Amino acid sequence: MTTSAVVWQETIIIQGDRAAQKAQSPCVIWFTGLSGAGKSTLANALEAALFERGKHSYLLDGDNLRHGLNQDLGFSEADRTENIRRVGEVAKLFVDAGLIVLAAFISPFQMDRASIKDLIGDDHVVEVYLDTPLSICEKRDPKGMYRKARNGEITGFTGIDSPYEAPESADIVINTGAVSIADSVAIILAYLDRHSFT
Ligand code: ADX
Repeated sequence: MTTSAVVWQETIIIQGDRAAQKAQSPCVIWFTGLSGAGKSTLANALEAALFERGKHSYLLDGDNLRHGLNQDLGFSEADRTENIRRVGEVAKLFVDAGLIVLAAFISPFQMDRASIKDLIGDDHVVEVYLDTPLSICEKRDPKGMYRKARNGEITGFTGIDSPYEAPESADIVINTGAVSIADSVAIILAYLDRHSFT
């Protein structure tokens, strides 16, 4: 079926109504970086801080979504692109619902991350690049995956034998090897305040 066979249904309640009800400015805070860079940890800490402030949010995490919506996807280039495309669509719906969305995905490809901004609107996406060096991520190795990748038990692991295209103009860049989680949260909150998202 082509999309021309489907007509968009307008809704009575629109994004602005939902956002106003929650007294907030919906956006997506998109965390990108290597496995072990601290994306989930930081996204969780930030969400807790937003929750404390009475903000309505939702955290989309790569590992979790791959247990459900994206369980049919692997780690080929095409599957990673589809993973991020689906997450973008979900994030767009949640932004429409008036929420502050936190997304923690390796999202290694520049084009996929650019598509998210096109889909949701540049003004509503805050890109946070965790540029924690590979050596630190590998040392942390929270899931033992780098060791497996080095042993050849896993192939196509990001940073080892699969590429990571670093963002060139992320809104916020943090090396969690050098900056604490608490300070990282403060940096992001200050950015959100400055841009009137909170
Ligand atoms: S992405 O590349 O498609 O954005 P995503 O963030 O959803 O990746 O999932 C990354 C998680 O999957 C990692 O935290 C890691 O636990 C797990 N994983 C399993 N295999 C791989 C792999 N080949 N490359 C990267 N991560 C992998």
